[in-house]
Amino acid sequence: APRTPTISRPLPPELLERDLRCPFDPPAELRRLHAEAPVARTRLANGNEVWVVTGYDEARAVLADTRFSSDSFRRADATRPEPPLGPDEPRGDGMFIFMDPPEHTRLRRLLIGQFTVRRMRALEERVREIATDLITAMRDGGDRADLVPSFSLPLPSLVICELLGVDYADRAEFQDRTAVALNLNASDTERAEASAAIYRFMQGLVAQKREHPADDLLSGLVHDTEAALTDRELVDIAVTLLGAGHETTANMLALGTYALLEHPDQLAALRDDPELGDSAVEELLRYLSIIHTGPKRVATEDVELGGVTVAAGDTVLVSVPETNRDAGHWPEPERLDLSRGRTPHLAFGHGVHQCLGQQLARVELKIGLTELLARLPGLRLDVPAAEVPLRTDMIVFGVHALPVAWD
Ligand code: HEM
Repeated sequence: APRTPTISRPLPPELLERDLRCPFDPPAELRRLHAEAPVARTRLANGNEVWVVTGYDEARAVLADTRFSSDSFRRADATRPEPPLGPDEPRGDGMFIFMDPPEHTRLRRLLIGQFTVRRMRALEERVREIATDLITAMRDGGDRADLVPSFSLPLPSLVICELLGVDYADRAEFQDRTAVALNLNASDTERAEASAAIYRFMQGLVAQKREHPADDLLSGLVHDTEAALTDRELVDIAVTLLGAGHETTANMLALGTYALLEHPDQLAALRDDPELGDSAVEELLRYLSIIHTGPKRVATEDVELGGVTVAAGDTVLVSVPETNRDAGHWPEPERLDLSRGRTPHLAFGHGVHQCLGQQLARVELKIGLTELLARLPGLRLDVPAAEVPLRTDMIVFGVHALPVAWD
């Protein structure tokens, strides 16, 4: 069977540790490297060295330059414990996030054709219904809850069900599997089993769409006769959308809420003026920059970058949180200011792999956060802030739980 990436990887810890006095600031080691140079070399606990890019211009240059490969499965990736795949070893057929052009271009183009304006409009209405249903269930359950299982995990998971066309009857199973796959407290075996179950689930879904096409993205891909995608490609694409769209949005929702609760003036501004929603989402994406040690690339030839030579074969980690706090691009970058408007932050990446789901993510965040504030008056933390368990152990930063209460 092809070696397939797990959805969430707890690596590399030395770049994720942070000063817990401010949970929203980037990890201490990234701060140190940024102060040292825009492109700095550092050694990981596994003994391998990597380049960490913290300069804004250098980060954009890497992400726009196809001499830096995304195919970290077939190339030696210094952060990964396993050796690279051999030339004849199969890799996921449709994992386009790990592909380079022109292989990547073909699948990306097919996907873009499915993210239509009409489909996104219809999804927006469903996002609002899903968000309000979840909040109603929270209120029906009392005046306190853990926001992670009751809101921030199920919202993006149900939106992906809408996108892929998962039947209502199968959604509980889908959500259980994805929750286990993303839960660090689950054992490695449980997580691996959940990942395998997600693959089986997606296989069943693709088979179902072949038989009974509906008006969803997956059916659109299955029945694109010109593209003639294989089942294997379709399953990988479905898993990629889940992997890229679920954990990221879930953590932005929970960490975004936590950040607002810790900045009461900003929270009040957004609650009083929901028109601030678009700008608030952009600023939270910039300020929190939840993907801390990626995007990741492997150099395919020697490249001059920010005064150093990155050699062919070197691994490069773009540090999104540090680039998004570049003082040359944002006045007072350390301050959360929801009124900044849209700024050229790199939270969704840049270049050919720039986030395909960014419009959908923006809709989920804006509706999710504004509905929470509107429908849960007096929303507050239900534990001392220092007790909120942070995901300092995961590539996608956020919180493991967020106990909240309301009036
Ligand atoms: C790619 C961030 C939500 C689907 C990316 C990349 C980033 C990113 C940084 C670039 C990766 C790279 O260059 O290697 C985020 C954040 C999100 C979010 C912060 C939420 C706040 C979503 C959603 C979906 C999605 C909701 C879809 C349902 C994708 C896909 C790619 C991608 C398919 C790969 C695109 C390609 O390789 O061409 N995302 N994303 N993302 N994202 Fe998102």
